[in-house]
Amino acid sequence: MSADLDSIQCVEDARQRARRRVPKMFYDFVDSGSWSGATYAANESAFARLKFRQRIGRNIAQADASTTLLGRQAALPLAIAPTGLAGFVWPDAEILGARAAHRFGVPYSLSIGSVCPLEEVRRHSDGPLWMQVSLLKDQAYLHALVGRARDAGCEALILTMDYHVAGRRYCDARNGLALPPRRSLRQAVDLLSAPRWCLGMLRTAHRGFGNVIGHAKGVTDLASFARWHADQFVLDIDWKQVERLKAVWGGPLIVKGVLDAEDALLAIEAGADALSVSNQGGRQLDGAPAAAEVLPSIVDAVGGRAEVLVDGGVRCGQDIVRACALGARGVLAGRAWLYGLAAGGEPGVHRVLQILRQEMLSTMAFCGVRTVADIGPHVLWEGPARAERAMERGAGQWG
Ligand SMILES: Cc1cc2nc3c(=O)[nH]c(=O)nc-3n(C[C@H](O)[C@H](O)[C@H](O)COP(=O)(O)O)c2cc1C
Repeated sequence: MSADLDSIQCVEDARQRARRRVPKMFYDFVDSGSWSGATYAANESAFARLKFRQRIGRNIAQADASTTLLGRQAALPLAIAPTGLAGFVWPDAEILGARAAHRFGVPYSLSIGSVCPLEEVRRHSDGPLWMQVSLLKDQAYLHALVGRARDAGCEALILTMDYHVAGRRYCDARNGLALPPRRSLRQAVDLLSAPRWCLGMLRTAHRGFGNVIGHAKGVTDLASFARWHADQFVLDIDWKQVERLKAVWGGPLIVKGVLDAEDALLAIEAGADALSVSNQGGRQLDGAPAAAEVLPSIVDAVGGRAEVLVDGGVRCGQDIVRACALGARGVLAGRAWLYGLAAGGEPGVHRVLQILRQEMLSTMAFCGVRTVADIGPHVLWEGPARAERAMERGAGQWG
C-alpha cells in the first residue's frame, strides 16, 4: 500500500479525502440524494441498526470472505455498482475502477452513462465485467450496445428499471450541473479549487459519454447527446420489453431497482437471473424504503429462484455481513468505490476493497462464522425484535 493511502483506514476516511480533492459540483453529484435525502440516509441507518450476535468459543481459523456471484468466483460478496459520470469524479475513472476490481477479484459494472467507452475499459482489464443499460426509445442503439457488451465478453447485463423518471436532485440543480454543461464564473472557481483534478482532466481524452457519443445516431457531441438523452426515457413500460431485451442479450440478466416482492417475481418471470434490491442509493424516489428494509421480504418471495443482490448504504464490511445475513447473495457498492477513486485513483479503489474485506473478516470472526455460506440470520442479534414479540403476546417482559 502506498504511504499516501495509509491514513485511509475506513470508507469514511476515503470520503473525507474525496471531498477535498474533487470540485464541489462533482463531489455533491456523488454524495447527495434526491429531494430531502431521507432515503439516502435511511439506506445507511437501516444497516447500522442491525446489531450482531457475538459468539465466543468457536473455531474461527482460516476465515474466507470469498463466494460466487452468478456462478463466478468473487473475492468478496460484492460487485462495483454502475455509476454514471464517474469519469468526472476522477479522470479515466471507469478504466481505473475496472482494473482495481479485477486485481482484487470482484466484478465491475459499467454504466451506460460512463465516460470511458466499454471497449476501452475492456482493453485495460480482462476481469468480470457487467454492463448496465436501461430501456431506451432508441432501440437500434440499445441493441447495438447489447451486442457490443457481448463482443466485449461482459458476463451479465444489468437492466436498471428505476431510471425512467429522474429523481429531483436539487443539489445538482443548485450547482448548475446540467446537460449540456453551462459555464459560469462560480463553476470555474469551483473547478480551479481542485488543481490536481483539473490537471488530470486536461490530460485525459475521456470527457464525454463514451458509450453513446459516436455510437447513437446523430450523437456527436455533448449538445447532441443532451438532446438524445432528453428523449430516451421510456414511459409506456411493460415486462414484455424486459423479455425481449433478455432474448436480444441471451446471457445472465440482473434487474436492478427492485423494491417490491411482487415486482421481484415479475422480473424473474420476464427472465431475470438475478435482482438488485435498490433505490439507486436514494438518488431516485426519496421516501422509498431503505434497501435493507425491504430485502428480507424479497428474498422470501424469490425463494432461491434468482440471486438477490442489494445496494444502497454499504459503507463498511459489516454492512456486507448484514446484507448476507438478510439473505442477499452479495452487494453492489456505489459511493464506496467512488470515494476510494476520488481519494486515490486505482490504488484508492483497491484500498477501499481491502478495507471492506478486512472489516468483513473481523466481523465474521466476532460472530463465529468462517465462510460466507455460514452467514445467516443467526449472526444478527434480535433482542429488541424478540422483546417486541413478547410485548405483543402480552407477556410485558422479555420473552
Ligand atoms: C454518482 C452515482 C451515479 C450513479 N449512476 C448510476 C447509473 O448510471 N446506473 C445505475 O443503475 N445506477 C446508478 N447509480 C446507483 C448505483 O448503481 C447504486 O444503486 C447506488 O450507488 C448504491 O448506493 P450507495 O451509493 O449508497 O452504495 C449511481 C450512483 C451514484 C452515487
